[in-house]
Amino acid sequence: MVERGLQDARTLVTGALRGIGLATAVRLVAEGAQVLVTDLSPPDDPLVGQVLGRLGPAATYLPLDVTAEADWERARGWVESRWGSLDVLVNNAGTDLVGPVDQLDLAAWHRLMRINVDSVFLGVRSFTAALAAGGAGRRGGASVINVASIMGLVGFAETSAYNTSKGAVRLFSKAVAIEFAQAGKPIRVNSIHPGFVETPLLHIGMQRWVDQGKAARAQDLLDGIAAMTPVKRLAQPEEIAAAIAFLASTDASYLTGSELVVDGGWTAQ
Ligand code: NAI
Repeated sequence: MVERGLQDARTLVTGALRGIGLATAVRLVAEGAQVLVTDLSPPDDPLVGQVLGRLGPAATYLPLDVTAEADWERARGWVESRWGSLDVLVNNAGTDLVGPVDQLDLAAWHRLMRINVDSVFLGVRSFTAALAAGGAGRRGGASVINVASIMGLVGFAETSAYNTSKGAVRLFSKAVAIEFAQAGKPIRVNSIHPGFVETPLLHIGMQRWVDQGKAARAQDLLDGIAAMTPVKRLAQPEEIAAAIAFLASTDASYLTGSELVVDGGWTAQ
């Protein structure tokens, strides 16, 4: 059997109660990792019980609003007291904001930047020491995976805020990757750039276009996106989770500061 360095790895995933984050937690557990599942819900939310039931004893839940410094401090305290170190940090939580640039609300713009960008900075800052400790005994070091988007690589109409936030995640990842490597800190940092993935975020986003009268049915929009994608379909969350697991694993021991595009060929066009 090939050893991928995920057996008993200590991992934290943000926004892990649904979508790509949940699929990532499922995949990491399947590879033998321990997962600290984090999201906005309080621990007594039935969804938390449902997700932990699915993941089994390798998973624990901790509420973590990725925009809140105090929540990151609590998560750091949890990891240091229970595990002592961290092997993998997946900064996945994120949201969207659409609209013509001249109609974007500044407060909404700031909120998006807090959720999509501040989160990644706070996550890395909070866990640099724990990741350095985890990475010291691991081939290639510990791994941070920041979930960006193809929208961090190319522009789209009426998504300037989201494009900006994901472009920032891409370059933050590269800057920190170099900083850690030069400082001799055993932490790899990479960004991942999914195309269109069938998750609640995408479905809610499409419904919003319908509510604004821009399309008759959300399914028509999804079909349209699939038709514009070279492989003629959307991604499933599990396909993004598999790529995240690769970056988390020791198979990716020489990858740092890179951007992994998982988009069915969208940006190759
Ligand atoms: P989703 O909306 O289905 O799930 C996101 C999860 O993040 C939810 O469980 C939500 O509660 C949580 N979350 C939101 N704000 C949070 C906060 N402040 N603190 C903690 N948790 C918070 O979204 P999806 O599609 O799974 O997206 C995950 C990541 O993938 C995001 O960063 C998104 O921008 C990115 N992405 C998604 C794509 C898609 O087509 N679905 C494409 C490319 C990137």
